[in-house]
Amino acid sequence: MYKILKKKQLNDSITLMEIDAPFIAKKALAGQFIIYRVDEHGERIPLTIADYDREKGSITIIFQTIGASTKELAMLNEGDSILDVVGPLGVATEYGNVKRVAVVGGGVGCAIAYPQAKALHKMGVEVDLIAGFRSKDIVILEDEMAAVSTHFHLCTDDGSAGYHGFVTNKLKELIDGGAKFDEVIAIGPVPMMKFVCKTTEPYGIKTIVSLNPIMVDGTGMCGGCRVTVDGKIRYACVDGPDFDGHKVDFDELMRRNSTYKEQEKAHLCRLTGGVRNA
Ligand SMILES: Cc1cc2nc3c(=O)[nH]c(=O)nc-3n(C[C@H](O)[C@H](O)[C@H](O)COP(=O)(O)OP(=O)(O)OC[C@H]3O[C@@H](n4cnc5c(N)ncnc54)[C@H](O)[C@@H]3O)c2cc1C
Ligand code: FES
Repeated sequence: MYKILKKKQLNDSITLMEIDAPFIAKKALAGQFIIYRVDEHGERIPLTIADYDREKGSITIIFQTIGASTKELAMLNEGDSILDVVGPLGVATEYGNVKRVAVVGGGVGCAIAYPQAKALHKMGVEVDLIAGFRSKDIVILEDEMAAVSTHFHLCTDDGSAGYHGFVTNKLKELIDGGAKFDEVIAIGPVPMMKFVCKTTEPYGIKTIVSLNPIMVDGTGMCGGCRVTVDGKIRYACVDGPDFDGHKVDFDELMRRNSTYKEQEKAHLCRLTGGVRNA
């Protein structure tokens, strides 16, 4: 059992949890993830390790309540326990010999962009963190992101805070304004990552994306997380989740991610308050 040491609501739908998981904390690196199962009836759900504390033996996850399984997790409180947490899974992000990097996060993707920016900042890299949200009221981790970036660019679609526009517009403005990025790292909704790649491609800037296909076992056996990269089959759980974004077939990923839309319709039990898929 994995005890929840801390729970914090970052906005109406995004929750931070610090979990007691000493063996995972010992080995975790930026870019890796865990798979949890709330209880013996639970689905296996992947979430990125947003932070870890090796001395305390804890990991932090930041997740958006979307459907049944994330709602079940969000219902737990400090002191409660999660049945299984497996990890660290996936290949840790490899940082090349880089001087200036733009880390682009979209929505809850900022929770994953944050540890990437933190790792690069610690290495002495000049980091432009471009964080996009629909509006001011759902902005998360603003102070934390500002603290681990050289230049922090908060963007909102409606202009209610920071730059008025999409992260791709901000990124293009920075590149056209003379910013020399050795690499761009994009993490967020699949369409956002696709358009970040379309933005950087004409400039020839290497762009890494963190893919979020449907995962089941997380060990390369079930094939659920199959993606096509450079025309070849890859399994995001063991070959990724980071890939060269200019080579990813995003349209296939979007199609595969919507395969179970009907089954994912959550059922909230009025008797127990529990949530299970219909
Ligand atoms: C490597 C990886 C890291 C991730 N990190 C985070 C994170 O740090 N924070 C966060 O909020 N979300 C993260 N996600 C997405 C998260 O796993 C889904 O939001 C979650 O599975 C939704 O489950 P649900 O039952 O609540 O929703 P559902 O209603 O069942 O599904 C909603 C959507 O979530 C996705 N999804 C559902 N089941 C899975 C599954 N088994 N594997 C992957 N995606 C699924 C699908 O796109 C689906 O359409 C990550 C996904 C991957 C693959
Ligand atoms: S999740 Fe099963 S192969 Fe990757």
